[in-house]
Amino acid sequence: MPYVEKLALFGGEPEIPAGTIKAWPLITEVDEAYVLASLRGANHAFGPNCVAFEKEFAEWNGNAYAITTNSGTAALHMCVAACDCSEGDEIIVTAYSWSSSATCILHHNCIPIFVDIDWETMNIDVNKIAAAITPKTKAIIVVHLHGLAVDMDKVMAIANQHGLKVIEDACQAHGAKFNGKKVGTLGHCGAFSFNQNKNLCSGEGGMFVTDDEEIMRKARMLWSFGETRTPSESRDYHAYALGWMYRNNDLTAAFGRAQLTRLDMYLDWQKRNVQMLAAQLQGVPNLILPVEPAGHEHNWYNYVLRFDMEALGHAQDANAFRDKIVQAMRAEGVEAGVWQRFILPTMTVFQAKNAYGYGAPWSSPHAQPVDYSPEQYPVGQKHCDTHACLVMMVRYPNGPEIMEMTAAAIWKVMENIDQLA
Ligand SMILES: Cc1ncc(COP(=O)(O)O)c(C=O)c1O
Repeated sequence: MPYVEKLALFGGEPEIPAGTIKAWPLITEVDEAYVLASLRGANHAFGPNCVAFEKEFAEWNGNAYAITTNSGTAALHMCVAACDCSEGDEIIVTAYSWSSSATCILHHNCIPIFVDIDWETMNIDVNKIAAAITPKTKAIIVVHLHGLAVDMDKVMAIANQHGLKVIEDACQAHGAKFNGKKVGTLGHCGAFSFNQNKNLCSGEGGMFVTDDEEIMRKARMLWSFGETRTPSESRDYHAYALGWMYRNNDLTAAFGRAQLTRLDMYLDWQKRNVQMLAAQLQGVPNLILPVEPAGHEHNWYNYVLRFDMEALGHAQDANAFRDKIVQAMRAEGVEAGVWQRFILPTMTVFQAKNAYGYGAPWSSPHAQPVDYSPEQYPVGQKHCDTHACLVMMVRYPNGPEIMEMTAAAIWKVMENIDQLA
């Protein structure tokens, strides 16, 4: 029987006292030592920590090459360029992700083609990719969203059949696996983010990874002014191709290296937290829990809850009612949030089809007309309107006690949801 308890939103006692959730990431004397040593060193630009970070991350992930960047977005742009995508070429991408999973396509004057998501995995619906392929298609960007890998067997089979490159947006998916292999080793190249919220945090930053020497060479040119040599080599300062300045700096790399020493421990801890939380949330009314399909190892970067708005009688005002539920959870002390409120194709940058003026790149003579009408992505839209996410709460050093309190708070809100009507 549901019990009636006054929600904290309306003056009841919160389940989780203020100040209980610990901040991310943990900073120890290891971080201080790495960063101080860098600060006291002689090279604060692309210094020795950058070179070491590339080597250590490549080893950790199992890649032949890694290039440290100033963001995950930079690494994504490098992927697009290194896969020989040219102006007007089409690149397939999920309809639901962070904006730069798709704006990186525009950065190289290419055309994003959006594919709706699969409800269960929240990732691109791999069964809809083939229908989106045209003679202009050059690549597929798979986003391992929330830390769950895309079914790469299916994606690689389609890509091989059509001669396409596969770019992995692994910005949220450090350590996630598909059939025992880590993300970033499954496609032709990939991108990681080390931004504040990520499982490996260096403040900002990213990493480009590949096992293909030619792809690595092309990515490096874009990364550093179109040059063929890195700053740790003897440079000729010649721009051989169009380049940007996407290099990382020594202080940030030092911070990233220090965090990398704890990454496996963080991920194990997070997995245990989520197992505990999931067990305690079994049976919560009208709550849909995330899944980890067979063959996948989730990293649980983002533990995504969804609400059954049909059962709750709020199918028509799902977005607004979801916001109320999140507000009620937050009042209980749960650090719940809403991640993306818009599916990508509805974002103005894509609807306006005018990234660089004069309608470019969609107006390119090499491009063909594309349609971004939102009705094509009903699953992504439903997900947008009905989800909430738990990110920091499941992170180290938050542990079993916090999981228990979180579960109790969620039970309380969902069992007393009538109070939100
Ligand atoms: C899925 C995804 N792709 C790309 C990015 C971009 O990473 P960054 O913020 O490091 O540029 C992010 C980060 O927020 C992300 O979550």
